[in-house]
Amino acid sequence: MSDNKTWSGRFNEPVSELVKKYTGSIDFDKRLAKWDIQGSLAHAQMLQQAGVLSAEDLSAIRQGMADIISEIDAGRMIWSLDLEDVHMNIERRLTDKIGDAGKRLHTGRSRNDQVATDIRLWLRDQISDIQVLIRDLQTALVDLAEKNAAVVMPGFTHLQVAQPVSFGHHMLAYVEMLGRDDERMADCRKRVNRMPLGAAALAGTTYPIKRETTAELLGFEQICQNSLDAVSDRDFAIEFTAAASLLMIHLSRLSEELILWMSPRFGFIDIADRFCTGSSIMPQKKNPDVPELVRGKSGRVIGHLTTLLMLMKSQPLAYNKDNQEDKEPLFDTVDTLIDTLRIYADMMRGVTVKPENMRAAVLQGFATATDLADYLVKKGMPFRDSHETVALAVRHADTEGVDLSDLPLETLQSFSNLIDKDVYDVLTPEGSLNARNHIGGTAPEQVLLQVRRWKALLTG
Ligand code: ARG
Repeated sequence: MSDNKTWSGRFNEPVSELVKKYTGSIDFDKRLAKWDIQGSLAHAQMLQQAGVLSAEDLSAIRQGMADIISEIDAGRMIWSLDLEDVHMNIERRLTDKIGDAGKRLHTGRSRNDQVATDIRLWLRDQISDIQVLIRDLQTALVDLAEKNAAVVMPGFTHLQVAQPVSFGHHMLAYVEMLGRDDERMADCRKRVNRMPLGAAALAGTTYPIKRETTAELLGFEQICQNSLDAVSDRDFAIEFTAAASLLMIHLSRLSEELILWMSPRFGFIDIADRFCTGSSIMPQKKNPDVPELVRGKSGRVIGHLTTLLMLMKSQPLAYNKDNQEDKEPLFDTVDTLIDTLRIYADMMRGVTVKPENMRAAVLQGFATATDLADYLVKKGMPFRDSHETVALAVRHADTEGVDLSDLPLETLQSFSNLIDKDVYDVLTPEGSLNARNHIGGTAPEQVLLQVRRWKALLTG
């Protein structure tokens, strides 16, 4: 292999500098190095068992790779653009160290099945890390829910005050969303965890390889059953990025709420100073930068999903160089997700809840109007009639500038003689909350049951 012509003596001239830069991937794919070596070691061991490599070659390869790992760890590995990508950089370094045994490593494989294997090995590990982080964020939210199970806040529909809900219940809504995100990650990981190695360039190889052996050594759950499919599809990366997009969307929604709640107009919560910044011109400002950036970065991850989908579209079988473009969006998706989950769990642990402000907002919005309607129904009035009766009572309270619970009994009775003094039990925000006592309801008792359920799931 002479410089800049790593693939053959077939070419009359080296690629131009510009082409070299344009086609090279070493700047970003070097982060796959350890997974590339992991794949190579399993491949070499299988080749030796199949009688293709000698025992001496295998031990030389193992020694050489161990040295290379130390060099990488020590930051001493020199990555060369002349060698295009991580695969050829490592192979060349190995050959420099151990000679011909290094050149024999690439027997029965191609960079096409090699790179597909590397990405899957790498992504498989990242998904496991991501799942741990999802659960840590869920734990932070469950703790917040437990502490605030009996804190009433206005529940909104159309961003108008609708009915009182428990702040803990609101937090648990996100725990549910994240639970499905976790399931999606686990499910996607099963399809990531399949081995392309052995597909070689596209058609398989003439050597007596044992793919089951390599798969077992690498901990793959399955082997890709069609060589053309194995080297060409990146659906596993797309699927992962789609799951990541949904997760980011959930966090973007929570971010939007944190931003609103922190605004003095709401004043429901405060976010610890270390997650906020000030303004260079307005001394009074405390800006919720972290949630705003999470909201912004959700767009970035969805952009990566679109990139990967467009990358696949129109690619004929099998491998095409287009696929080299899968890495940067995928890497950035993982990096963004991991950073976001980490910072989010920390941030939620630093949220201060302001129950008085939440309660005041409930009282301003006639949030217990449905409870009054339900009360009349329980006393025998048809629901449509009670809806109208309460509408008139709300109108009256509104002109008086008071909450329904502030109206004297005689006034309430002027709207319906079914009303008695027990009405005040349902007109308070706490009464409203306690009345919704069934699976999935907002009663603090139910919230605490869900807290217990999640704690068991998250520690189990
Ligand atoms: N750097 C390439 C990639 O990321 C590796 C595979 C290249 N294969 C090839 N035949 N050019 O996809």
